[in-house]
Amino acid sequence: MIIKQAELETVCGITSKLPENEWPEVAFAGKSNVGKSSLINGLLNRKSLARTSSQPGKTQTINFYKVNGDLYLVDLPGYGYAKVSNEIKAKWGKMIERYLHGSKQLRAVFLLIDIRHDPSANDKTMYDWVVHQGFEPIIIATKLDKIKRSQVQKQIKAIKEGLNLLPGTKVIPFSAETKQGRDEIWEVINSLRED
Ligand code: GTP
Ligand code: MG
Repeated sequence: MIIKQAELETVCGITSKLPENEWPEVAFAGKSNVGKSSLINGLLNRKSLARTSSQPGKTQTINFYKVNGDLYLVDLPGYGYAKVSNEIKAKWGKMIERYLHGSKQLRAVFLLIDIRHDPSANDKTMYDWVVHQGFEPIIIATKLDKIKRSQVQKQIKAIKEGLNLLPGTKVIPFSAETKQGRDEIWEVINSLRED
């Protein structure tokens, strides 16, 4: 995928009105620190258009990145971030739900899972909820560069079993360091926007 143009167009906080975009959207969900913003940078060939941090809880708004004038990549705040109060967590949760439930242009939800770890209870809840909303989530197993090649299949199996994935669900390993997986993710995005 050739990126001719990429820009952060809309930033939404807890009380913001969500945009009614005229182009397809794909969203990236997952636990804090799993690599959502890094994945977006990787897809867009940008080093730091989406702000990343080694500290969880970096993205605290819903950020809409417009790509080549006719598509949005949507960066969501992470869940499971321990350092904020339950009240704030609940507000973020509601904001993410409001977006995933309400967007008319949302074509697909990518759920990111760290390839090193078995899915958490929060990951499972998120997966089930997204399925319940009528999506077929695509799983991205992030930080592929952090494990040995010989471990990859075993970890993918653990993710499939841990989330109890529906048959046929895609699991795409990705590394923001090496960009492995980038082309496959773009193929999926491009196939969805044609529907
Ligand atoms: P929140 O915004 O807090 O929800 O986190 P996030 O999911 O957006 O994660 P982010 O992209 O900020 O990445 C978190 C940390 O993981 C950063 O230090 C990244 O550099 C690192 N990271 C992300 N992806 C990869 C990867 O594929 N490989 C390696 N080695 N590090 C990664
Ligand atoms: Mg982020």
